[in-house]
Amino acid sequence: MRSVTKDTITDAFVNYCRKTKDPRLKFVLSRLAAHLHEFAKEVELTHEEWLQGMDLLYRAGRISSPERSEFILFSDVLGLSAVVDMVGSGGKRTEYSNLGPFHIADAKWLEPGGDMIGTGDGDHVAFYGRVLDARSGAPVPGAVLDIWQTAANGLYSNQDPAQPEGNLRCRMKTDAGGRYGFTTVRPAPYTVPDDGPVGDLLRATGRHPWRPAHFHFMIKAEGYRPLTTEIFPADDPYIDQDAVFGVRHRLVVDLVPETNPARVPFKMTAASRLKTPFFRVEYDFRI
Ligand code: BEZ
Ligand code: FE
Repeated sequence: MRSVTKDTITDAFVNYCRKTKDPRLKFVLSRLAAHLHEFAKEVELTHEEWLQGMDLLYRAGRISSPERSEFILFSDVLGLSAVVDMVGSGGKRTEYSNLGPFHIADAKWLEPGGDMIGTGDGDHVAFYGRVLDARSGAPVPGAVLDIWQTAANGLYSNQDPAQPEGNLRCRMKTDAGGRYGFTTVRPAPYTVPDDGPVGDLLRATGRHPWRPAHFHFMIKAEGYRPLTTEIFPADDPYIDQDAVFGVRHRLVVDLVPETNPARVPFKMTAASRLKTPFFRVEYDFRI
């Protein structure tokens, strides 16, 4: 096309892509181009602003590594990851929330009721519940939960040389009644990495980098879509201002103060070692 204008460029792009074999790729790319073109026109993007944006992406690439994706972090703080999670969530299933960069595959296996506290400092928590079929409400036995969280200092084991390898991480299968349970410590709020271009963006917009404390869960069971989500204590100071927009109403729980381990309705192997008062959390996941 010789005389492309700002009114015809989107159609020209779609025409260029007409031989795309994958229909989904064709659709997504066409719509992406349409929105990008519209965006640049709407805000009357200047050359300087466009260059600033390109430089931000360049710096994101430079600071990224297999252990750190600044691009995912951009997606997180822009709210894009949360929108993708919310588009993928729906109905009676537990909603998705951030995977984050701190998950490690192959965490140790614990029996239901197992202990993650170890020698950890901080408040103790007894966390228990069930994994249920979202449609029928029936328990799902043998579902695999992959669980990870920070210590009381707000750091994951792979950020903190003072923690033993694999600290505050485990995998666990639900029992015949679809139940799971574990003892742990209360996680703490923490900041997302802000020493790169994402941090610059946060500062330029007067935003803080804090996430409210949370427990990460990845749940898999045969015949079900995997669920990656997070559970947030309600009384966290950042519960209404998560830097990456991960909090959803149904993922927020009360940590109930408890003094009697016998009142926890799931047998925990470390019940007698729970430091009182501890907190009790019950949560049923629907997959
Ligand atoms: C996390 O929850 O681990 C996380 C999520 C998004 C960005 C950084 C950390
Ligand atoms: Fe996290």
